[in-house]
Amino acid sequence: MKDKINYYLKQINIAKEGGGKNRIDSQHKKGKLTARERIDILLDDNSFNEIGMFVKGKNINENEKELAILGDGVITGYGRINGYEVLIYSQDFTVYGGSLGEEHANKICKILDMAIKNKIPVIGLNDSGGARIQEGVAALGGYAEVFQRNVLASGVIPQVSAILGPCAGGAVYSPAMTDFIFMSEQTSYMFVTGPEVVKTVTHEDVDTEYLGGANTHTTKSGVADFSFDNEIIVLQELRRLFDFLPQSNTSEAKMKKFNDDTSKKIESLNTLVPEDKNKAYDIKELIVNVADEKDFLEVQKDYAKNIVIGFIRMEGYTIGVVANQPLALAGCLDINSSRKAARFVRFCDCFNIPLLTFVDVPGFLPGTDQEFNGIIKHGAKLLFAYAEATVPKVTLITRKAYGGAYDVMSSKHLRGDINYAWPTAEIAVMGAEGAAKIIYKSANEEILKDKIKEYEEKFSNPYIAASRGYIDEVIKPDITRIKLIDAFKILRNKKLKNPWKKHDNIPL
Ligand code: HXC
Repeated sequence: MKDKINYYLKQINIAKEGGGKNRIDSQHKKGKLTARERIDILLDDNSFNEIGMFVKGKNINENEKELAILGDGVITGYGRINGYEVLIYSQDFTVYGGSLGEEHANKICKILDMAIKNKIPVIGLNDSGGARIQEGVAALGGYAEVFQRNVLASGVIPQVSAILGPCAGGAVYSPAMTDFIFMSEQTSYMFVTGPEVVKTVTHEDVDTEYLGGANTHTTKSGVADFSFDNEIIVLQELRRLFDFLPQSNTSEAKMKKFNDDTSKKIESLNTLVPEDKNKAYDIKELIVNVADEKDFLEVQKDYAKNIVIGFIRMEGYTIGVVANQPLALAGCLDINSSRKAARFVRFCDCFNIPLLTFVDVPGFLPGTDQEFNGIIKHGAKLLFAYAEATVPKVTLITRKAYGGAYDVMSSKHLRGDINYAWPTAEIAVMGAEGAAKIIYKSANEEILKDKIKEYEEKFSNPYIAASRGYIDEVIKPDITRIKLIDAFKILRNKKLKNPWKKHDNIPL
């Protein structure tokens, strides 16, 4: 018995060593943690249960058989984050560069199957040289098996990826199909083809960081949602995100205790919108002020800054916020902001997270660049996302709601449940000046001035929309938090079903 236990303990130690001390040291020297250290930071203390520690790669050729390493380069299992169950896989770069062979893929698939069957969120910590070269097509097949499960899990359980090292070639498509991607700065990258292939094909000289580092994907491509200075912050922030997410598409919303007043008036909101209509202000002031404890987790904060998305809580319940940002492009909707917000709206709708929309939008961004790149299709994504969403939808128009953008931004006509406006709201086909110039084309300057004023008085307000019931209530800014809390409370048991379909055909 004792021998058997000693043998068992020895095997565990061997497995825990992964690719050995030298490779662990080399990992640390690059500013990276090991797969096991990452799990320790991510999960609640002593909550990790490992599955498949003794799995060995089976496609290693005869000469290399004795080199097969326990675990096959990925650590899999389950644990808890703030008391909630989570399934996890963490690629071990010290074992064949974390490359994915058949058994490595089988381990990840087992985790994804368990996640789907038991409706538990899954987190993937990626650090891998891609398909294991020695395993050839078995490795490629392994990736496709993972992809298939990512797709089946989509909309059933939250899937979150952290990229903490290389992620190249087709391997990028597994994280790409998950709901949120975190990246660590300077130590991670994602691209379909690396700098050498790029150089050969397009003659561009780029390094890995510029081509696919955290900065590129959070500012230029929008592929990643979050990036942080180092892995420890990435893992801590992943825990924070997880706190806002439900366990699955059928689970109860998480409720977090909060120390905040639900009947609090916020005087500063009365002066948030400047007297000058063309002056910008920061919509995040409004978001943090209505949130419990001013806690706002912004998603994609450095990409398409003309729209702000993220999570807050109201009375302890998670709410997804979408808000036009007057500080960037005057809050116009363009291709990138439409795609960014549409995906977020669809995520919230999948997981029964109510939507709060703040509107200050002068319209869609004009220009050949936008038209040639398909603003029609991309703008339609956001419209489609709002229109199909069945979660509680509360909307507040703070200032401009012009033209098609008025319709798109969770208007009453797209089944907005409760639509508020501040007295500063201007709900119209377009701004007063543009409108007068079109209607009174040949008028002289003086008449035009009068007509602009007339149009402003007649149309640039919330009262015509309110008289038709498109706005349910015009509210004083300082009571906004109180009103929003009451609105979400009355909608808590909302039930709405779309007609049966196999799936929709969102304009991609
Ligand atoms: C097997 C691999 C490997 C791979 C790395 N290693 N990538 N083993 N298959 N794909 C091994 C190395 O041999 C080395 O083993 C150890 O991992 C660490 O690698 P290094 O090169 O020493 O590390 P580093 O200098 O940090 O460079 C990391 C790297 C580089 C940039 C990832 O290793 C690399 O370019 N690897 C190949 C990447 C690649 O082209 N993969 C295929 C992509 S295509 P030892 O024993 O020395 O420690 C793909 C298709 C997916 O993935 C298709 C899905 C549809």
